Amino acid sequence: MKAVEVVNLVKVYGGGIPAIDNLTFAVEPGEIYGLIGPNGAGKTTTLRIVATLIKPTSGSVRVLGFDVVDQAEYIRRMISYLPEEAGVYGNLTGYEYLRFIADIYAKSGDESESMIEEALEISGLGSRIKDRVKSYSRGMRRRLQVARTLMVKPKLAILDEPTSGLDVYHAHYIRRCIRRYVDEYGLTVLISSHNMLEIEYLCDRILLIHRGRSIDDGPPRILKEKYSSNNMEEVFLKAVGLT
Ligand SMILES: Nc1ncnc2c1ncn2[C@@H]1O[C@H](COP(=O)(O)OP(=O)(O)OP(=O)(O)O)[C@@H](O)[C@H]1O
Ligand SMILES: [Mg+2]
Repeated sequence: MKAVEVVNLVKVYGGGIPAIDNLTFAVEPGEIYGLIGPNGAGKTTTLRIVATLIKPTSGSVRVLGFDVVDQAEYIRRMISYLPEEAGVYGNLTGYEYLRFIADIYAKSGDESESMIEEALEISGLGSRIKDRVKSYSRGMRRRLQVARTLMVKPKLAILDEPTSGLDVYHAHYIRRCIRRYVDEYGLTVLISSHNMLEIEYLCDRILLIHRGRSIDDGPPRILKEKYSSNNMEEVFLKAVGLT
């Protein structure tokens, strides 16, 4: 069974040109699969459909064997979704926010405690975890959000530009955390990013997406060979015919 199976997906928002235009791809269990493409390519739309937040116009999307339209409630129990722009309740402290989420997912007090402990480590917030979230910088809020997405150890983590707004040091640290979670807990990760370095470092396979269509997909190393390129940026530009 595929972790995610997207077949001939089309999404039209209110009558315009399709945001997603006949997209097909599959994500194997335990892999980190990346979507890359320019602004407006359809990355967020695809992730929101997989996360069961919006419905496809046509085509089929299955997550862990379940259909996103007919069986969304099963899917929601097994995934954890980090939106592109995630709001947090600013009046809670970072710690209270993590506790709130952990108590929803954990089956016992002990499990909740250990989730929070791991999230504290991932977030790297240290003693600032006791401060109200509204006093955090953008990057600190993002780290808190990534931490809460991973700490629940979903079968599938859907991460929409997880490191956007993070400095080099914290972005690197978060990438290591994502990789460690995949290796230790066998999660599957579907991620979108503009950061070609990130995609290359993190992803087992990537999908190049442009104007809602798939341009190519494969492991970064194979794509670099195929397009005789030294890095993913060059691969992308060559693949969409911009150079
Ligand atoms: N709620 C919406 N209503 C109407 N059109 C939308 C909506 N959300 C996205 N779109 C359109 O769908 C297309 C794909 O947008 P999407 O947000 O999926 O792109 P993206 O690849 O995530 O871009 P970015 O890199 O800027 O995050 C764009 O043309 C966008 O204008
Ligand atoms: Mg987006």
